[in-house]
Amino acid sequence: MKERVALYPGSFDPITLGHIDILERATAIFDRVVVSVLRNPAKQPLFSIDERLELIRAVTESLDGEVTVDSFDGLTVEHARQVGAIAIVRGLRALSDFETEFQMALMNRRLEPDVHTVFLMTSAPNVFMSSNLVKEVCRLGGDISEFVPPAIADALHRRLGKPG
Ligand code: PNS
Repeated sequence: MKERVALYPGSFDPITLGHIDILERATAIFDRVVVSVLRNPAKQPLFSIDERLELIRAVTESLDGEVTVDSFDGLTVEHARQVGAIAIVRGLRALSDFETEFQMALMNRRLEPDVHTVFLMTSAPNVFMSSNLVKEVCRLGGDISEFVPPAIADALHRRLGKPG
């Protein structure tokens, strides 16, 4: 039977427990999930592409499902086609995500009708979590251990400084 592959695209600067939650749900549905980091020259990320890929690899190797890690530029639907994905996975948190995600999903469908967007709901503790908020909490000396795996917390503390 043909392998059912999903693409999970994003900035992942850095990957959080919210992303991992979505990824675990996606691996329960698809045979393989390609987590792919957008190479976006317009953004000033905290971690380089290579650092983000390395961090994602470090925290996903223990997951049950099959996960591969990649990066891309250009259109997400084009990348989905290249990796043989039948679906694009996106996580939905609060209602505020909906409008942008809805626009992206409809645009992606216009561009490539054969690639479906699958929205997965995050679990309740992750509803208000984002990479940007985690970075801000870390920068201001707050405890980030509930939001990211230990390897990511270490990387954030090395980059932004440890509290105290
Ligand atoms: O983690 P993010 O920043 O919410 O991810 C956004 C991402 C990478 C999924 C989105 O910006 C994207 O798909 N960019 C690629 C450009 C593209 O395909 N644009 C047209 C479709 S809306």
